[in-house]
This record gives sequence, structure tokens and C-alpha cells, in this order.
Amino acid sequence: MPSYAIIGAQWGDEGKGKITDYLAEKADVVVRFQGGDNAGHTIYANGHKFALHLLPSGSIRPHTLNILGNGMVINPVSLSLEIKTLKGVGLNPNIAISNRAHVILPHHIEKDKENEKTQNIGTTLKGIGPAYMDKVGRTGLRMGAFVNEALFEAYLRNDQTHDLTEEKIKALLTTYAPFQKELAPKVQDTSYLLSEAFKKDQFILFEGAQGTLLDIDHGTYPYVTSSATSAAGISQGAGVSPKQIQKVLGVVKAYTTRVGEGTLVSEMNEELAHQIREKGNEYGTTTGRPRRIGYLDLVALKHAHRVNQFDALILTLFDVLSGIHPLKLVIAYDYHGTRLETFPAEPEILAECTPIFETLEGFDEDLSTLSDYNQLPQAAKLYLKAIEKHTGIPVGMISVGKHREQTLRMTNIL
Ligand code: IMP
Repeated sequence: MPSYAIIGAQWGDEGKGKITDYLAEKADVVVRFQGGDNAGHTIYANGHKFALHLLPSGSIRPHTLNILGNGMVINPVSLSLEIKTLKGVGLNPNIAISNRAHVILPHHIEKDKENEKTQNIGTTLKGIGPAYMDKVGRTGLRMGAFVNEALFEAYLRNDQTHDLTEEKIKALLTTYAPFQKELAPKVQDTSYLLSEAFKKDQFILFEGAQGTLLDIDHGTYPYVTSSATSAAGISQGAGVSPKQIQKVLGVVKAYTTRVGEGTLVSEMNEELAHQIREKGNEYGTTTGRPRRIGYLDLVALKHAHRVNQFDALILTLFDVLSGIHPLKLVIAYDYHGTRLETFPAEPEILAECTPIFETLEGFDEDLSTLSDYNQLPQAAKLYLKAIEKHTGIPVGMISVGKHREQTLRMTNIL
């Protein structure tokens, strides 16, 4: 049985939630391996809209085991709320939480807010960066210790880094007691669980959060998140071998969006951006912030491909491009008269790059009602062909709307 990775090929918000949910129809296990409730995966199913932040996108499917891997940072309060929301609509997601995942506590959120006053990264203010700082600084709290009353109290009492007064410790113990009790039965060695799933030859999906351009190493540092969002993060963040990931699927929006600070070379004029933002509902699932909009940036996409080696692309929100004339693809950058084909590492260089476009004819047809690739208008087909030509990656699937059935499969690469 296959094990697929679903990886964001841009700055997050590519529609990975919908795609994971779609592919989860046949999956036995869905695994999150990095990030926390900074993510926002929206799924429309069973007549409801689900905004998942911590739970893997297989949580809507009754038969799927959903693993929150060791590479995640988990806010227990948010997790409990998400579980409750699903239970409220009659779902009872099957969840396993890694005992090695780290915990986000209130002081991480406070620190995130404090840091933002000077750093101005545009974070989601969920405490993600400070929790990962504690992890690599070896002062973090892991889920296994959190759900053990004695270990949690010992952790708080031995803490030297967060200025925890007796009053704060007591408040934390009281606040978190119900969450410890609720989550304890779900906390286990999820790397072991996964090894058993592999032995049983089960179908496993690894669900990326954020996107490759937000990767701590390969993204637009320092305007990135604090985890390894690319396929390489799976092995470390889920406790599996790189040899166990069979295919890497890159989810890419038909255009580009970005929230938070940092350069967006392909950014559009506001009039066009507004049109796409409204049609594509380009507002943050977690923060509600309006997303910045750009043309599809193939320099950035090729960078993501180099890091991830995508077996196929899954192009999302293609229907939103209907009525945009002309369509443009960023095929290179101009840096003070020099043509750049590769994505620069330095934010200072990126900030001074301007896009070199390939211009294509647009289309006006409504794609959202189509059920087959062959029904696509010629201009839409040429847009896909141009992406394939420049990147060398086959487009394997297209999403033309938020619902499961608005998905066109093009090749049998999946
Ligand atoms: P953090 O992950 O909250 O520390 O935020 C760091 C950067 O990543 C900011 O630019 C955020 O806007 C961005 N970011 C974090 N999570 C997401 C996401 O799920 N989608 C898009 N951007 C994200």
C-alpha cells in the first residue's frame, strides 16, 4: 500500500486540507508531523465547514487513524476544543498523539506576542516559535510528561526559564488538569504505531502544514515558521525512515498567496488581487488576515521542487482564475539587470527582484462544474502545460472548488 506525502509548495494555504481529506477516503492513517495550531485546514464535507488547526485532515473520515506526530507543538486547550467541535457534529475522530510532541503553554503565546513587537514576522501569535525554541533549547515540555500529573508539576517547579511564580504554577496545574485527563488516553509512541501500520501494509498519508517557502531552512528566512515544512521534515517529525515515503505530492495554488511579512515578488496590483481574494476567499483560516495575492511564481515552485522532488503537482483553486486576463507565470527574476533562475536565499536580494513573466491567454468559463480534465477550456489546458513545461513536474490532479467532488484527476500518477 502507498505512503504519500502531501506538501505545500508555496507559502501555505494551498488547500492541503481539502486534498488530504479527498485522498483520505482510502487512507488508513493520516499523520501531521510539524507545526501546531498556526495551521488552518478547511474542509467542506457532510454539509459542514470544518476548520482544522491541529487535527489531521483525516479526522472527518470515520475509518481513519489520525496521528499528531512528535514534530508538532500542541496547545492542549486548542486540541480539546477542536475535538469537541467535531463531536458536536456527531464525529468521533480516532486520534493518537505522540508522547514526544511538545506542548504550547500560555507563556509561549505571551512570548510570541512580545517578540512580534520588535521582530515583525507577522506570526499567527499561537506561541509556535517560542515552543520550538524551548524544544531545541532542551527546556521544553513533551506530551508524555504533560499528561502525567507528577511529571507536569515537577516540570513547572524545576523550570528556570519562564519566570513561573508559585501562583502561576498553581493556576497552570488547575487549568490543565481536565486537559491532562482528556488527552492522556490518546498519548502514546506514535512512531511505533506507524511502524505497525507499515507492517500491516496500510495506506498512510503524511499531511504537511504551512508550505515549503515557510520552511525554517528552505523558506524565506526569517519570514518563516519554526519547523521543517518540506518532505524532509516527515522522517524527523513522524519517526519514520525517509525510505518509507513512497511519493511526494506538491499542492500548489493556481496563483500565489502569502500572509505575514516578507517579499512576494509576484505580487499583483491591488485591483486584481482584490478580485481574486474575494472569489477565492483568501482570508486566513486561523487569523482572518487578508492574504496577499500574486501570479504563480515558478521560480519559487522550482525551488520547492528541488527540495521536495515532487512526483506530481496538485493544482488548487484553478476555478478562481476564470476571468483574469491575461494570465501570467513568473518564469525568472530580474535582479538589477541579472536574470535569476533560482530562488535567492537572502531576503535583501529577494526584496530587490522583479518578476519576468510569460504571458498566456486567460479563460472565462466556469470551471467549478467540470468533472473531467478534457472539459477544460483550451486556455486552461495551455496554462497547465506551461507549468509542466517550466517545472518538469506532471500535474496529477486539479481542484476546481471547495467540495470533494470538485476534483479532477488527470493521470494515474496518484
Ligand atoms: P508562526 O508559524 O505563527 O510562527 O508564523 C510564522 C510565519 O508563518 C508567518 O508569516 C505566518 O503568517 C506564517 N504561517 C504560519 N502558519 C501558516 C499557515 O498555516 N498558512 C500560511 N501561513 C502561515
